[in-house]
Amino acid sequence: MTSMAALLALFLLAASAMSGGVQAQPLVPAVISFGDSTVDVGNNNYLPRAVFKANYAPYGQSFARHEPTGRFSDGKIVTDITADTLGFESYAPPYLSPQASGKNLLVGANFASAASSYHDDTAAMYDAITLTQQLEYYKEYQSKLAAVAGRAAARSILSGALYVVSTGTGDFLQNYYHNASLSRRYDVARYCGLLIGIFSDFADKLYKLGARRIGVTSMPPLGCLPASIRLYGEGHGGCVARLNRDAETFNRKLNATVEALKGRHADLKIAIFDIYTPLRKLADAPVEQGEDEGVPLQPDDGWDVPERQQLRLLRRCPPVRSRERLHGGVHG
Ligand SMILES: *[C@@H]1O[C@H](CO)[C@@H](O)[C@H](O)[C@H]1NC(C)=O
Ligand SMILES: *[C@@H]1O[C@H](CO)[C@@H](O)[C@H](O)[C@H]1NC(C)=O
Repeated sequence: MTSMAALLALFLLAASAMSGGVQAQPLVPAVISFGDSTVDVGNNNYLPRAVFKANYAPYGQSFARHEPTGRFSDGKIVTDITADTLGFESYAPPYLSPQASGKNLLVGANFASAASSYHDDTAAMYDAITLTQQLEYYKEYQSKLAAVAGRAAARSILSGALYVVSTGTGDFLQNYYHNASLSRRYDVARYCGLLIGIFSDFADKLYKLGARRIGVTSMPPLGCLPASIRLYGEGHGGCVARLNRDAETFNRKLNATVEALKGRHADLKIAIFDIYTPLRKLADAPVEQGEDEGVPLQPDDGWDVPERQQLRLLRRCPPVRSRERLHGGVHG
């Protein structure tokens, strides 16, 4: 993700950790991540029943050892780039992996799970780790960290850490848009309200548990994801305006809620990593000649496509311009 706004938000969150001197240490002691495939670094590989796993090529081809890591990308994902930007030399391991132990816990932990979402029901439909369970794992992590680092050091790591929350796309694409009982019960505004309420509770709980720096991603332009264009685009090949409006509704509510959280907790630094704006610009821009198209992902095989595509977009995938490219399966 190369969004300037997102990077600015990141530095805003990290700024108070910077000293005047030479920058040898990472800007924050640890990065702790929650969410879906946009930030899953391999937890789903440890779930026997999870529907979505990234444990096969071409996933991981451009990553350190050129092999699948469980990341839903052929290279780095948002949390990796975040960690690089903050000056880390290693990445927090997936919490369910054997590597999440001992000194490795000092740089943070990653609880994210592909196909997870704000609404636990959505995650449960795909046997992903629900956000509620991710928080339970985080509590467990706190005691493990205290055992490794000592209580005082653990407290300072936990309050200095950057907490990343990146999820929610699945609540729309993997649930709401094809769930008649859900969309009868809630119109889009109320559904966004429900999801934002879950985020707000989650952020309050993190705060109570010691978090003081939280970054949350905005909803991406749902209508520009290739699977959305195929399913809801009515053959026009362009972004689906209705779905983008839904994302904007969500993002407005997210903005208000983040402002409210700031108001409630004076010592909480919280910012939105705006991924909507840069991805929307990218989708609206003409495809440039010679742009690196990266490694093609799997052919279209169902509901996991939107999440994977989201990842492709996050990795600066060129937008789909024609139905032909769509009919060739997933674009490159
Ligand atoms: C519809 O959504 C509800 C609430 O999220 C969920 O419990 C249910 O399983 C979903 N049904 C279908 C058919 O997807
Ligand atoms: C919310 O929106 C206002 C107006 O666009 C902006 O100034 C503010 O920074 C936004 N808040 C967050 C948390 O992004």
